[in-house]
Amino acid sequence: MKLKEKFPLAEKLVYFDNAVMGCAPQSTLDLMNNYMHALVDHMSGKRKWAFNVEEGKGALDNARESFAKVIGATKEEVHGVPNASTGMNVAMSMLPVKKGDNIVSTDLAFPMGAALVQKAVEKGAEARWLLSNKGVVEVDAFEKAIDDNTAIVYLDQPSWFNGYMFDLDAIADLAHDHGAYLVVDATQSIGAIDWQIDKTGVDFTATSTFKWLLGGIPACSAGFMYMKKEHLDKYDPAYVSGCTYKYEQTGVEGPYMGHKFTLNQGIGKYGVFRSPDLAFLAAGNSMKVLLDHGMKENKKLATHIIDMLLERGYELQTPVEEKRRTYLNVKVPDIKKTVEKLNAEDYWCCERVGGIRISPHFYCTIDQATRFVERLDQVVKSL
Ligand SMILES: Cc1ncc(COP(=O)(O)O)c(C=O)c1O
Repeated sequence: MKLKEKFPLAEKLVYFDNAVMGCAPQSTLDLMNNYMHALVDHMSGKRKWAFNVEEGKGALDNARESFAKVIGATKEEVHGVPNASTGMNVAMSMLPVKKGDNIVSTDLAFPMGAALVQKAVEKGAEARWLLSNKGVVEVDAFEKAIDDNTAIVYLDQPSWFNGYMFDLDAIADLAHDHGAYLVVDATQSIGAIDWQIDKTGVDFTATSTFKWLLGGIPACSAGFMYMKKEHLDKYDPAYVSGCTYKYEQTGVEGPYMGHKFTLNQGIGKYGVFRSPDLAFLAAGNSMKVLLDHGMKENKKLATHIIDMLLERGYELQTPVEEKRRTYLNVKVPDIKKTVEKLNAEDYWCCERVGGIRISPHFYCTIDQATRFVERLDQVVKSL
């Protein structure tokens, strides 16, 4: 694909580790540089003092607009959060669960997801863990596990370690037919695929800015959460801020005394976290670049890598069909040494759950993909 701008890190490295962190485009790097200079000048008193740095004005608001486009939602359904984990916590801590309820999830969930399910268990719910077979959990397992006591179906889409894409439509129908919510950690796909989330049955999701949204490294990242419109005003947020309530004086003098606290409407009341302008500036710009390029190339690159690996006799921990996966995970005899050697030569991938996770983004090239598999094969044979 012809790139409209430079991705310096992805040119320097053979980079197939986007599930760890994406590579920011040049225009985002320039913007970050500019903001950091302004910030330091600002804090050293070299500019006329104001509370905020002018260069960061509107960062969150603009980023929300772009994020809504990236996932196919409305701006009213999305908000900034410090990271994906916080976004998932916002949803999971506000949904009511009680003794007798159950939560259906799978062993393909990221450890953070398992922790959220555990919190529901501590409130009295039963965890129903579905076990994967060769990196896959089929719909019929959900069919057997979900019943009228299911409060939440919790998934990663795709699974973090192998890119497996659940049959979300079928699972959403099952969940909703039984009155359960579908809560999805989409950290590993938002920005990688064209979600059109409002057309899916996903009720709540979240992601971070430093992976597929190309917002920079974790040290300067943030995240987004999404709630389907009809849920925005159903529940109270577990965390509150000055944005959560309207305060109305009811006669008694004095701050807050005798005030009526009314919960605000809309997603703003969930946005109780201070937003780092740098992270949202970076992500906001990168998402524009992403939207300009489209979100279709990643799977094709993964297909090329899969074809080459299968020709060479490797076993995958990921389904082959494009519909059922994004990136991939391949088994090799000595994972640790293979990854160490590849990384040392600037071929980037990582060890995950008994295999090597290989995760291309659209700026990776077919030529890099070919070189990557050829080198991986040589390294495996040399160990
Ligand atoms: C599926 C998944 N969810 C959540 C996270 C954590 O994201 P954050 O650090 O933004 O909370 C990761 C990080 O690797 C992840 O892979």
